[in-house]
Amino acid sequence: MKIYKTKNYDAMSRTAANIISAQVIMKPNCVLGLATGSSPIGTYKQLVDWYNKGDINFAQVTTVNLDEYRGLTRDNDQSYYYFMHKNLFDHVNIKASYLPDGTREDAEEECHHYEEIIRSLGGVDLQLLGLGHNGHIGFNEPADHFPKETHCVDLQERTIEANKRFFASIDDVPRQAYTMGIGTIMRARKILIIVSGEDKADIVRDAFFGPITPTVPASILQLHPDVTLVADEAALSRLPQ
Ligand code: GLP
Repeated sequence: MKIYKTKNYDAMSRTAANIISAQVIMKPNCVLGLATGSSPIGTYKQLVDWYNKGDINFAQVTTVNLDEYRGLTRDNDQSYYYFMHKNLFDHVNIKASYLPDGTREDAEEECHHYEEIIRSLGGVDLQLLGLGHNGHIGFNEPADHFPKETHCVDLQERTIEANKRFFASIDDVPRQAYTMGIGTIMRARKILIIVSGEDKADIVRDAFFGPITPTVPASILQLHPDVTLVADEAALSRLPQ
């Protein structure tokens, strides 16, 4: 694993945007796997800036997102569809973008369909990830196994708690989501994971320097051949000496 230590969130975002730009320059028709949450907002903002300056062109790029809440319509301002449009898709010229469809009732059908989309695109070239406080990636919550494919998950209390800040009340936070599986994520050719803040320092240590276990889903990334971790000083402040 390559680790880039940055001064703060802004520097983390610029470094991550540089790595994504390099991917798009080296392979203009690449498939980017994208993430939501507060971690990638700065990265997307930087990419939009460079796009506006004419430094990056997404005309041949396709994107697939990691996850989506189950039950939220696309126009709900808390859906990941809405988030991605607001923070990136509405501002750049991405050729095509896919997210799981949170409104599809039949979970099994939707998950199967989403895996098929990823497969038909030839897989993901570069997958961007954030890291949940409990070690989740996408919405793969701590479990007794690593889920292989896109599936429907029951969100854990800690995740619902962490995400409630975006909703009017905790009762409005969806209890389920569709997410790429750990197998889907591990099939990406390259992984870029971004983490900032002292509140993530313990989970960064456990995920990347602790045992590989489904109780810390991100720990599986230790087995991926091409992972880049971009994290700020605070998030890297508790690594083993
Ligand atoms: C959310 C998302 C994840 C994200 C994570 C961390 O629940 N489903 O994809 O990476 O939690 O979020 P944040 O970057 O806001 O800390």
